[in-house]
Amino acid sequence: MAEGSGAPSYERIDRKVEVMDTPYDRWASSQGIDVIRGFFVDDLYTMPLKWWNRVGGYGVYIMLDGTGYLDDAYVCAIPPGKNLNAQRHMFEALIYVLDGRGATTVWQSSGPKQSFEWQTGSLFAIPLNARYQHFNGQGDREARLLAVTTAPLIFNLFRSEDFVLNNPYAFTDRFCGEEGYFGGKGVLYSDRVVETNFVADAINIEPVAWTERGKGNATIFFEMAQSMMGSHVSRFPVGLYKKAHRHGPGAHVFILSGKGYSLLWPEGKERIRVDWTRGSMVVPPEGWFHQHFNSGAEAARYLALKVISRKFKLQPGKIQSDVPLAFGGWQIEYEDEDPEIRCIFEEECAKSGAEVQMPKYR
Ligand SMILES: [Fe+2]
Repeated sequence: MAEGSGAPSYERIDRKVEVMDTPYDRWASSQGIDVIRGFFVDDLYTMPLKWWNRVGGYGVYIMLDGTGYLDDAYVCAIPPGKNLNAQRHMFEALIYVLDGRGATTVWQSSGPKQSFEWQTGSLFAIPLNARYQHFNGQGDREARLLAVTTAPLIFNLFRSEDFVLNNPYAFTDRFCGEEGYFGGKGVLYSDRVVETNFVADAINIEPVAWTERGKGNATIFFEMAQSMMGSHVSRFPVGLYKKAHRHGPGAHVFILSGKGYSLLWPEGKERIRVDWTRGSMVVPPEGWFHQHFNSGAEAARYLALKVISRKFKLQPGKIQSDVPLAFGGWQIEYEDEDPEIRCIFEEECAKSGAEVQMPKYR
């Protein structure tokens, strides 16, 4: 056979291959609700919502720049005295109760149903692809939920709404209708990780001191429903800020209480500042340094919802969020930060009357 004669004879087309929108983007924009984009959201409590037929309530998608399309967020409201439609999906979901009181029932097709009650501040995970339904327990006001999910990752991998939303596979190794599954029992490990399936009140839960991340800082991590997603609550007292650090995409930082700001910057580039208060949310983009400052007159708390489980890894390697850059970690120590950062903080605390408690290092 002559050299080159085995080459197939392709039809030639005089244009570049078509670049498709991501399946997730097509799906999200087909839902009939707004998709908010950008860097930061001011206030999830007052965001306008639209009727969301698939879910049977009101909602808005929040697809912020820093997610890396690993995860997304949505806010949904259950009308007074009503329930949402029953759902199941092949993406993971962490749910935080922004406001209200109600209950959720979770079940596998062939197993018993488990129901549990929630209120403002509750946090839980839906076991992967289990069936579930939310109920508003109050007849005179809506209930508002925040969800962070892996929908972008899953839709873009499989490109099939039917596969993602109507998949009969039951992950019974994660949940098979066990009595007490959402009862709030759990264990606290020595590295501040709680393994549980329900946190009744993330606003007031007592975190564990973690001063390597900053003076006065305390944090508690949650591993729920055998999920690939993780979450944590951090608290920092008046007059203090955390050390800057960086990591992968998709950490949704939602402000539970307090008033302050965050600085975010890619290495060597200009800093971006976002001012936050209760209800704000920001997602630091992959690899960007970010630093959270409590410049208000009371303790601040945030809840981070992300595709980082401390138990189930997407990739090997140690989480090094409290290891200094000099030792190969992800964190900038106070003494190594740009001195302007301290100056800005002192000015902001002076404005709110907060006394600066930061350690002196120069
Ligand atoms: Fe972070």
